[in-house]
Amino acid sequence: MSIVDEVPLSEAEFWAAPDEEREAGFRRLRDEAPIAFYPEPDYGDFPAGPGYWSLTRFDDVMYASRHPELLCSGRGTNIGDIPDFLIDFIGSIINMDDPRHKKLRGLINHGFTPKALAQLLDSVRDRTTDVIDTIAEKGECDFVAEIAAPMPLAIVCDMVGVPPSQRQTVFEASNLILGVGDPEYVQSVEDLMAAVMSVHQVAMELGEHRLANPADDIATILMNAEVDRERLTVAEFASFFILLVVAGNETTRTAISHGMWALHNHPDERRLWAADFETHAVNAVEEIVRWASPVIHFRRTATQDTEIAGQPIAEGEKVVMWFNSANRDERQFADPYRFDLTRSPNPHVGYGGGGPHFCLGANLARREIRVMFEQLFQRLPDLEITAEPEILQSSFIHGIKRMPCAFTPA
Ligand code: HEM
Repeated sequence: MSIVDEVPLSEAEFWAAPDEEREAGFRRLRDEAPIAFYPEPDYGDFPAGPGYWSLTRFDDVMYASRHPELLCSGRGTNIGDIPDFLIDFIGSIINMDDPRHKKLRGLINHGFTPKALAQLLDSVRDRTTDVIDTIAEKGECDFVAEIAAPMPLAIVCDMVGVPPSQRQTVFEASNLILGVGDPEYVQSVEDLMAAVMSVHQVAMELGEHRLANPADDIATILMNAEVDRERLTVAEFASFFILLVVAGNETTRTAISHGMWALHNHPDERRLWAADFETHAVNAVEEIVRWASPVIHFRRTATQDTEIAGQPIAEGEKVVMWFNSANRDERQFADPYRFDLTRSPNPHVGYGGGGPHFCLGANLARREIRVMFEQLFQRLPDLEITAEPEILQSSFIHGIKRMPCAFTPA
């Protein structure tokens, strides 16, 4: 048996296994076959594609991220190609290359600068206060659904311009879109399509509305901007919208949930941070994102015959960057399986490895995670996780579906 059979990245069972088993598999790949060719997963409804090169070492993931001229995004960034009937609805800038990628990203970039985010800080604080107010008297709740999820959802919806009445639809659809692979969320391609269409509908209505009724939000900017002397169509706006709400929602929730689980399992680290929140906050938030690695992979495609670390890659071949594995690479991180809130430097690739697609929301996410833990330490200091988290079955998002917690009612 080859290592590709022994560490079956393309089999659903591999992603249903406990985290420790997956970690052991990725460690073997880093040591024994850091650039290995894998068959593509079988998606049932679609024929499997031609396979992909799997990159598991930190240096190779960085290289692939930073050479978009050799390894592009415009031919898709998920392992399987997006089926034609979905291509107009999902993807947007994450599946584009410069120059168009740069122009579209540039339209909203300034909304995510540290200065713009400083203005958003009050709103992150207020939303977090609301979330904790809602559960503080209960004494127990589901950490994921009731603590980690609502604030990032509210913030991204505020920024984009989603009215409160539509937020539940956006939330449910984004769970479903990123839940592909887990039978609890998606059983058929029809389920996925229905979710995409429901959020597409919200976006179309919002886009049309903002044309006539401008407001101070991203929807207004996008609907009124011109790129190459043309306005975005409502459909282009809608796919950008879907990317933003999906990207801004589940990822941050996942980081907060894994962060809490890690603090639960490492009481010394928890005590250290709680005793001096400010001193440790910057490093702690980075370590939480390295530890959680909420986004497990993205793909690139070779634009020409090339090579990575001596491995020839032919034009058109797919290359998958395993961010989770790069974040545990012993060649880069001392003692990578240690959750160390004081780790510094911490050049993790949780938000990507640099390059043009580096997470647009990284500064926002950092702020959200920080504010959430600050308030949890202050207001629910004895919060404990009362059962093992249920992990999403997915090779894309390292999600936690449910994680019960208890605390002294405030
Ligand atoms: C802890 C939370 C988050 C994590 C771990 C995360 C992770 C990532 C990763 C790995 C990428 C791809 C990077 C690459 O290919 O080089 C990405 C892209 C992106 N993220 Fe995030 N993200 C988070 C939060 C957010 C938030 C809050 C938003 C905003 C609302 C956001 C918006 C985006 C967008 C729009 C892209 C595509 C950028 C492009 O293609 O140019 N993300 N993110």
